[in-house]
Amino acid sequence: MTTTSSASATPATVEGVIDLDLPGHTISRHVYGHFAEHLGRCIYGGFYVGEDSPIPNEGGIRLDVVEALRALDIPNLRWPGGCFADDYHWKHGIGPRDQRPRMVNSHWGDVVEDNSFGTHEFMALCELLGTEPYISANVGSGTVEETSDWVQYLTRGDDSPMADLRRANGRGEPWKVRFWGLGNEPWGCGGNMSAEAYAALARQFATYSRDMGDNELYRIAAGAADKDYRWTEVLMKALGRALGDGEVLGHGKSTFQAISFHYYSVAGPWDDKGSATEFGTGDYYGILLEAQQLERILAGHAKVMDAYDPDKRVGLVLDEWGTWLDVEPGTNPGFLFQQNALRDALVASVHFDAFHRHADRLVMANIAQTVNVLQAMILTDEDSGALVLTPSYHVFEMNKGHQDAAHLPLRLRSTVPVRAASSRGTAPDAEVSLFSGSASVRDDRVLVSLSNLDDSSPMTVRLDLRGAPVGEPTARLLTADTLQAHNTTRRGDAVAPHAYDGARVDGGVLVVDLPAHSFATVSLPLG
Ligand code: AHR
Repeated sequence: MTTTSSASATPATVEGVIDLDLPGHTISRHVYGHFAEHLGRCIYGGFYVGEDSPIPNEGGIRLDVVEALRALDIPNLRWPGGCFADDYHWKHGIGPRDQRPRMVNSHWGDVVEDNSFGTHEFMALCELLGTEPYISANVGSGTVEETSDWVQYLTRGDDSPMADLRRANGRGEPWKVRFWGLGNEPWGCGGNMSAEAYAALARQFATYSRDMGDNELYRIAAGAADKDYRWTEVLMKALGRALGDGEVLGHGKSTFQAISFHYYSVAGPWDDKGSATEFGTGDYYGILLEAQQLERILAGHAKVMDAYDPDKRVGLVLDEWGTWLDVEPGTNPGFLFQQNALRDALVASVHFDAFHRHADRLVMANIAQTVNVLQAMILTDEDSGALVLTPSYHVFEMNKGHQDAAHLPLRLRSTVPVRAASSRGTAPDAEVSLFSGSASVRDDRVLVSLSNLDDSSPMTVRLDLRGAPVGEPTARLLTADTLQAHNTTRRGDAVAPHAYDGARVDGGVLVVDLPAHSFATVSLPLG
């Protein structure tokens, strides 16, 4: 294993405290969730190549992609959209593949969708990944009956029409499905509705998305774009008496249990978002500004929810997040295929630190999207089929120890270096913090994640570890010569984590030397 040595120039210092004996809320493993839409090459070519492909597969599902993703311990996978969800009619995606009707994917590239990847294929993918399905029902253009039938088809076990149809298609036992989305972006591609109109529909669709047998649904109402707090408020009000009577959670409940919102880090106006790999220092700080804004927006939605639900029974779900940049030159603009550089990895680490700090309300988050679309974990080559792991993939892997761990608040006691930044996107000009970090404890092991976001200077982080003794630290580092560094089929390890000797515990203080633009994880045994 390669060891990256610590930096030598005089670093800025950030000081903080972690009380190891004062664990906070549990970080839901579901904030490390994923998203796979029928968009570009995410499903077709990404996850699914068909049974006749020379690429090793099981039932058409790529085994190399499955193997790579299993290393991330993916907790849930959202499907089939996105905007596509509100165009999707699930009955077209079951039965013999050569008899499935075709449709046009009008949102994404106007290409023909042959429905060869449908419900059975998605559930098989979840089983191979060892992950929970999160299915988004069609509220925008589908019927209540269609949604009700889909729940029955998936989760009903008796002698009944939908269960019989599933058996006729080769699956005897019902599946377990917990996460159930009620449409997607209903303020836009999901129907251009007002919050009030959607709230009424969400209650209706939730009512007919019933719990079958012991399968208990966790219904997620489609929420706001960015900081549309009013949308969240209208949905909280729509819970009305159900919330007051404590009727929100528990088996057989008919209303929704969580509200989502979407937030993308967009580095510029929609027609000029900027390249994923060719950008300057100003663009780098601009997108960090966008990423750091997420925490304020998350806190804004949580505050609205607190007013109606101080006991935090209703979950907040960020079921689409990530960088949204220009597509790679020469690719279909409707396919949203972008490269992924070290910069994207740092955007991911900033998001995770915010997720950990808001573990009391945030129950789930989903990166958009897992393969070949937006801030992907995996890129596949269209011609050779070869697979590349992105820098963002490595952050998910290095951070997976935070899943279901207890958050350990990291309290800063020094000034954190900042830098003025301006975004060509939605964030107002402001200061970007050059440090990001968070910590958690699980099974007598502390995991600390630290990012030095400074583009050119090293940083030393000193954290006073109080309340319990710790053993020797084991550290890993993700960095590269430049922020633009990225992995390709020719050079798959240009940005990859290495064992790191720049972390030590000195008199109860964890000292970590971070090179410029780097992300590190430090694992410490308790006791
Ligand atoms: O992730 C790409 C698209 O972004 C999704 O389909 C939609 O929900 C959002 O606007």
